[in-house]
Amino acid sequence: MLQKYNPKNKDIYIYVGGEILHRDQAKISVFDSSVQGGDAVWEGLRVYDGKIFSLDRHLQRLQESAKALAFIDVPSNEEIKQALFQTLEKNNMRDGVHIRMTLTRGEKYTSSMDPRVNTKGPCLIIIPEWKPPVFDGAIKLVTSHIRRNSPQFLDSKIHHNNLLNNILAKLSAIQAGVDAALMLDDKGYVSEVNATNIFMSKNGILYTSHADSCLPGITRGLVLEIAEQVGITAKEKNISLTEIYNADEVFVTGTMGELTNVSEIDQRIITNDSGKTVKDKIETVFYELVKTKGEPLPF
Ligand SMILES: Cc1ncc(COP(=O)(O)O)c(C=O)c1O
Repeated sequence: MLQKYNPKNKDIYIYVGGEILHRDQAKISVFDSSVQGGDAVWEGLRVYDGKIFSLDRHLQRLQESAKALAFIDVPSNEEIKQALFQTLEKNNMRDGVHIRMTLTRGEKYTSSMDPRVNTKGPCLIIIPEWKPPVFDGAIKLVTSHIRRNSPQFLDSKIHHNNLLNNILAKLSAIQAGVDAALMLDDKGYVSEVNATNIFMSKNGILYTSHADSCLPGITRGLVLEIAEQVGITAKEKNISLTEIYNADEVFVTGTMGELTNVSEIDQRIITNDSGKTVKDKIETVFYELVKTKGEPLPF
């Protein structure tokens, strides 16, 4: 699915390094660590009906990622919250908004990967855009030959900007003419999709992969919590391709697209032979949550 340019975003304001500037003026240094080595962490957030959804969980993951990368002088949660509020207020944005928030290690005095040559502390970038979750219906996947990082190489619990393995996987999907790429872990089990987590159901039981190689997504965590609340058995397990091809339901989760059905994987059509569904029940509670919960905007 190709995201379309929304002309409403032509004159948005971006927070960058303490200033809020028109998108045409918002820039970072060519010496910034993100340019020099993808040395940054990020979060995707959503604003629903005057509230930032799951803000505390996103801030916690950002802080934990920055700590894992040993960033110095990281802004506090309160400082980040205020920056988010100010940016949304400047844009008069209260609903139907997606925010890409990045924290780079900061600017360096020379081109290098070495964190010791940083002259400035982290640079916070907040890009809010009018971007409601748009569903063009169920998506099709292809399994990529690119494996998801494992903790042996790069811990997926760091939500970092070094996204090349996911981008290579996405290229597999583009080449195959489908929407997104299914990525396996280093043992050959299903890990996640290039930008979303994955769930399947079989005979009324919900399954998702262990959060070893995949990002422990915030939407994924909420889906598991909702399943428990509504009495659906949910298990984290090693899922093989044969198991997922033969699932009753498959869906992906993420802040950008919320919960999205998968209709086909590697040209195997997902058909529900048991007649049992779990996704609709979970989705109903999820949409109730996004309407009612979240950090209220102070303007
Ligand atoms: C690789 C990957 N998996 C899954 C997700 C979904 O995570 P969340 O539900 O926190 O948006 C993301 C979102 O950034 C991602 O980049």
